[in-house]
Amino acid sequence: MSNILVTGGAGYIGSVTTWELVQSGFSVVVLDNLSKGHQASLPEGVSFVNVDIGDRKRVSEVIRTFKIDRVIHFAAFSLVGESMEHPFMYFENNLIQGVRFIDTCVENGVKYFVFSSTAAVYGDPIEVPIPETHPLSPKSPYGFSKLCLEQVLRSYRHTHGLQVVFLRYFNAAGSGNEGNIGEDHTPETHLIPIIFQTALKQRVKVYVFGGDYDTPDGTAIRDYIHVTDLARAHIAVLQGMEQGLPRDAYNLGIGRGYSVLEVLKEAQRVCGIPIPYEITKRRAGDPPVLVADNHRALEELDWHPEFEDLSRILFSAWQWHQAYPDGYETGKGNGNTG
Ligand SMILES: NC(=O)c1ccc[n+]([C@@H]2O[C@H](COP(=O)([O-])OP(=O)(O)OC[C@H]3O[C@@H](n4cnc5c(N)ncnc54)[C@H](O)[C@@H]3O)[C@@H](O)[C@H]2O)c1
Repeated sequence: MSNILVTGGAGYIGSVTTWELVQSGFSVVVLDNLSKGHQASLPEGVSFVNVDIGDRKRVSEVIRTFKIDRVIHFAAFSLVGESMEHPFMYFENNLIQGVRFIDTCVENGVKYFVFSSTAAVYGDPIEVPIPETHPLSPKSPYGFSKLCLEQVLRSYRHTHGLQVVFLRYFNAAGSGNEGNIGEDHTPETHLIPIIFQTALKQRVKVYVFGGDYDTPDGTAIRDYIHVTDLARAHIAVLQGMEQGLPRDAYNLGIGRGYSVLEVLKEAQRVCGIPIPYEITKRRAGDPPVLVADNHRALEELDWHPEFEDLSRILFSAWQWHQAYPDGYETGKGNGNTG
């Protein structure tokens, strides 16, 4: 049987997807250079190779050795703010190494390619909820690197018949594998982990970037999708691709947005701890509102998000942060024990 190659599989979304794939009976090989990921996040027994996506020789060996014909490509740098300060880092890792990786896959016979794209490809939306047909006008080097890779993949579909799907995620949140696999980024820049780190007194307060957006309470609005729902969408896509999915781009969000202050308020209720915050200036590259029109995914994939309620998503994140206050360094194992 062929194996599925998951790049960036030791990262947040990649590791939860790896667990879901393994639990659904798929045979998975994880490729990650551990620049950001954690090997401890992986299920026991999964094949792991510590390789950079741009290493043609070793990636070719992995594809041939494990008879890979399907790839889910998560590996990338993904911080909008960092990309504004260091664009080349993003062009090099996400785009240049990404193109090298895609070409190596095609050269070695990969047939199906699922790509982690992002809502950042839309830029400042002119229509909300954002449909996949919205103009693509990224405002950050990060978003631009993702949009370019989408186009590169389209090009390989044209030249080599590579079957490609881009999943444009909105904001991933929560934990997988019953609270044992979660978000452990250094530095942490995502709102929900920062809120719970503040609840755990690891931070003094939450800085809210921008209180003067054109939104009801002045803070930015985002669409939070549970990481397990994201993971399961990848499985639905892999299954759908074999029968020929009608499109190449799908938004993954729940189709409802919450402001930063709404998330803060609900998180305080979920954990029962007051969370101090301070409103500060906007962060470069952050649009005011990002909410998905997810109808295409709901209609064309065999998928529906199970976590449609913000409090359940927050509770799932809180479970992880309480059990693993220092992330994978906490030393409580990785969920392999059960
Ligand atoms: N987290 C979100 O809310 C979100 C939203 C939209 C899109 N995305 C996209 O989803 C993907 C996963 O995001 P995440 O939050 O899990 O990030 P993450 O940083 O936790 O995971 C990325 C993984 O890729 C690995 N990696 C990076 N560059 C690599 C390279 N050159 N070679 C091999 N491995 C490499 C890292 O070590 C890490 O394990 C990314 O492509 C990101 O752009 C994430």
